[in-house]
Amino acid sequence: MRVLVIGSGAREHALLLALRKDPSVDHLVIAPGNAGTAAVAEQRDIDITSGSAVTALAREVEADLVVIGPEVPLVLGVADAVRAAGIACFGPSQDAARIEGSKAFAKDVMATAGVRTARSEIIDNPADLDAALNNFGPEAGEAAWVVKDDGLAAGKGVVVTADRAAARAHAAGLLDSGHPVLLESFLDGPELSLFCVVDGATVVPLLPAQDFKRVGDGDSGPNTGGMGAYAPLPWLSGEALAAIVSDVVEPVAAELVRRGSRFTGLLYAGLAMTSTGPAVVEFNCRFGDPETQAVLALLESPLGQLLHAAATGGLSEFGALRWRDAAAVTVVLAAENYPGRPRVGDVISGAEADGVLHAGTSVRDDGAVVSSGGRVLSVVGVGADLTAARADAYRILDSIRLPGSHFRTDIGAAAAAGKIQV
Ligand code: GLY
Repeated sequence: MRVLVIGSGAREHALLLALRKDPSVDHLVIAPGNAGTAAVAEQRDIDITSGSAVTALAREVEADLVVIGPEVPLVLGVADAVRAAGIACFGPSQDAARIEGSKAFAKDVMATAGVRTARSEIIDNPADLDAALNNFGPEAGEAAWVVKDDGLAAGKGVVVTADRAAARAHAAGLLDSGHPVLLESFLDGPELSLFCVVDGATVVPLLPAQDFKRVGDGDSGPNTGGMGAYAPLPWLSGEALAAIVSDVVEPVAAELVRRGSRFTGLLYAGLAMTSTGPAVVEFNCRFGDPETQAVLALLESPLGQLLHAAATGGLSEFGALRWRDAAAVTVVLAAENYPGRPRVGDVISGAEADGVLHAGTSVRDDGAVVSSGGRVLSVVGVGADLTAARADAYRILDSIRLPGSHFRTDIGAAAAAGKIQV
């Protein structure tokens, strides 16, 4: 099978490495990729937000399967164009991708499907902002205000704060730039990400993971696209996981089918395990980053065959997934100043080890690998348990040099110490 992967992050690097282990995959192409993916796949530079460009490349490389990594091409309908050309595509239609692209749509689907989620209000008129803020946060007896951009914002559109002035400033800034704002009630309890391979009403869950969105140790500092992750979750029982699949993901998948927006691809449920049960924080329409890097490190089933089955209507016959009996930890190495405007163009050294996945990297004219984005590398450690996986990840990180870079030192630490209770 020939597979074309769309994207350029560590998530796509992890997808390529997992696809390469599948004996049925004999050729890999990536567009646009990065300095690390060039070693694993034929690399092509196209406009990945253009359905006709992606379809033309898929035809040219004779792809049997196209796997679309990021949300932007999905929300723009690139999967529809690929499928319309008769090529199997792992990724939802533009219609179904609204589960991520429009928080208002996602809330409506969840309400109809009877799925618990945060109470919310959408504001598009600055004159309504103060009154709406009164209904949330400490003024409504909750720990914090949760202020989100209603569209796509790569994780950085979210501010969670107990400071009304900071909540107001973020919301006002979004409104000023023409973005509707979503105010949500704060959900307490540990968060988890559950990725499910979905085709219509058929839902196949992957291992649950947890990601770390704040930039600093101890969940300090601003939100980012994700600074680390681990899988599986020692604090989540098999029964609780099964309940999330049956009470959250399956009803949402079924509701999308009922609305004529059948979802084919990766449905990502972000949940909080609150004192009154699981509640959805968000749905995404694609693999999450950096959880994917940890989850796929443990997958033993053939990924290409799994994604192809989902893309061609054979998911219900695929059978149970096989997983390595181990734990995996991803730690993101970020450029100086990230999540602000990152410093780029610095030479990276010591990144050749197994377990190093590239994100914001490129190759300079002289052949040196340099930083070219905020999240530069993901390092994935694997071990018999979380403590061993953490040690493996931080050992690999020790040998990498990038001036001004930073990473969190506490990824998976609380779970490894048994400190997470549901
Ligand atoms: N893990 C956060 C995201 O992928 O959006």
